[in-house]
Amino acid sequence: MTNPSLLILAGDGIGPEVMTEVRKIIDWFGAKRDITFDVSEDLVGGAAYDVHGTPLHDDTMAKAQEVDAVLLGAVGGPQYDDLDFSVKPERGLLRLRKEMDLYSNLRPAQCFDALADFSSLKTDIVSGLDIMIVRELTSGVYFGEPRGIFEEGNERVGINTQRYTESEIERGARSAFELAMRRNKKLCSMEKANVMESGILWREVVTEVSKDYPEVELSHMYADNGAMQLVRAPKQFDVIYTDNLFGDILSDCAAMLTGSLGMLPSASLGAPMANGRPKAMYEPVHGSAPDIAGQGKANPTACILSFAMALRYSFDLGEEADRLEAAIEKVLADGVRTADLLQADGEVPVSTSEMGDAIVAALDASL
Ligand code: NAI
Ligand code: MG
Repeated sequence: MTNPSLLILAGDGIGPEVMTEVRKIIDWFGAKRDITFDVSEDLVGGAAYDVHGTPLHDDTMAKAQEVDAVLLGAVGGPQYDDLDFSVKPERGLLRLRKEMDLYSNLRPAQCFDALADFSSLKTDIVSGLDIMIVRELTSGVYFGEPRGIFEEGNERVGINTQRYTESEIERGARSAFELAMRRNKKLCSMEKANVMESGILWREVVTEVSKDYPEVELSHMYADNGAMQLVRAPKQFDVIYTDNLFGDILSDCAAMLTGSLGMLPSASLGAPMANGRPKAMYEPVHGSAPDIAGQGKANPTACILSFAMALRYSFDLGEEADRLEAAIEKVLADGVRTADLLQADGEVPVSTSEMGDAIVAALDASL
């Protein structure tokens, strides 16, 4: 059997810094668990633009299509702000998502006990929280046509179009229901069927798909109410399925229930490949954090947790994913904190690299 393959695209800013720590984890699995990945590395975002004049070279795109999983750091930075829209670093990321057809974006909001009082909400509202937002990722208002800035009479008009086909809604819904089956069999679908036709269709299609999953308890909620409920009583949810735009906002909102951006992983899944595994890209939720880049301050945990999701969803190594998450839990319980996780005066932060080392040590201790 060939080794599972992984393409690492570290990107810009803190991307390469956090990815260095993921490499330590990957090396640990090779050395201590005899789990070896064929790892290749390439450029994305500004780093790719600097070399190739494009945020994603065609060769890199082709490679991404072939591997079992892509692990991406982050893209972007102020030095690229004035670039033409078509070559902005973010376009590299959008192209990967679009051409790999990664239609299902999984964003867990999970509260690590050691960080429960780090949330902006009261501890009892978030402790034990473990929810998953499934965001449709390849369609909706970020892609719909017509779009653009047009002249209309003597002023300009900016236009974007929310557009969803039944099949787009359905395939995302299936992945959300599949996930719900593996979790607590509870799914809440969010749209605005009260004011948007795309929302009416969304609700109809999700209801239709639910007939194939009679064990899953399905509810519907308007997305604005969903935002309120997420901060009022988040534990009422398990899996949430929503569209690209609402999912972008709701998942950022849910993210803050659990503390720092530096803790948040994500997975983007597509259709099954020939080997039965979904096409997949894993990446931390955070961006390139130019304000702390190059200073050894970044929390590598979000990227390491993204790798844990890869172990679980692309490599059928759920127990090893559990082991890695438990190691992170232990490190946090031991009081190891990067700067973004400091709470009290006098706490001394560890560096990016020290955090990675602490997680490796906790992995060692798990054997
Ligand atoms: P950001 O996520 O890069 O940073 C927001 C704040 O969180 C900053 O104060 C940053 O220092 C902090 N932060 C983020 N990740 C952290 C980590 N791992 N450890 C400790 N602190 C962390 O978002 P921002 O500032 O809005 O965007 C910066 C650049 O990143 C922009 O060019 C933006 O376009 C890009 N971006 C890229 C994303 C991606 O690659 N998926 C996602 C979001 C933004
Ligand atoms: Mg966002």
